[in-house]
Amino acid sequence: MNNISIKKRYKSRSIIAQVAMPTQANPAGNIHGGEIMKMMDNCAYVTAQKHCLQNAVTAAVDEIEFHSPVYVGNLITCTGTLIYTSRSSMLVTIDVVVECLKTGAVTCALTGFFVMVALDASGKPTPVSPLELKSDEDRKIFEEGRLRYEAIKARRKMVCKLQM
Ligand SMILES: CC(C)(COP(=O)(O)OP(=O)(O)OC[C@H]1O[C@@H](n2cnc3c(N)ncnc32)[C@H](O)[C@@H]1OP(=O)(O)O)[C@@H](O)C(=O)NCCC(=O)NCCS
Repeated sequence: MNNISIKKRYKSRSIIAQVAMPTQANPAGNIHGGEIMKMMDNCAYVTAQKHCLQNAVTAAVDEIEFHSPVYVGNLITCTGTLIYTSRSSMLVTIDVVVECLKTGAVTCALTGFFVMVALDASGKPTPVSPLELKSDEDRKIFEEGRLRYEAIKARRKMVCKLQM
């Protein structure tokens, strides 16, 4: 694979990894949820920005679930995948996989969805290019993303009404 096709292949996906440190944990060695959510947010940002090549900010976070604990010394790997694009917003799914470096055991620890919005140089939402859909599977995931995104938007409208 040459450099150009590598860039195309990975432009809607990003992976970041780090070893969980004692400063991120409670006295029992469990990593704080917020530490991992920060990593997920960072991964969502990288995934969105790689697609739109503009500044991207988090507008909403949906359905973060903690499936299994993460401990000091575990290798945490976040994978961000862009699954849906609207006008200026992008829906990124984040999967967090944790590996125990003593036993080699791998578990899916967290999952979640992030709505990221592309901003222009003046900080205003700006259009992004549509996500390239190459297969029926891509189109199916895109449609699922669209439904989730619409549900998040509907919830936002309801909250805004309640606050008025
Ligand atoms: C996200 C933000 C840029 C949206 O600005 P806005 O003036 O509300 O702009 P709009 O109403 O035109 O929305 C722009 C897009 O964001 C989407 N959006 C904004 N808030 C959203 C939310 N809570 N959930 C889902 N989508 C949202 C809109 O649907 C729209 O999408 P589209 O262009 O694809 O149709 C603005 O609310 C903001 O700056 N928020 C703070 C972001 C931030 O700093 N995050 C870091 C963590 S604090």
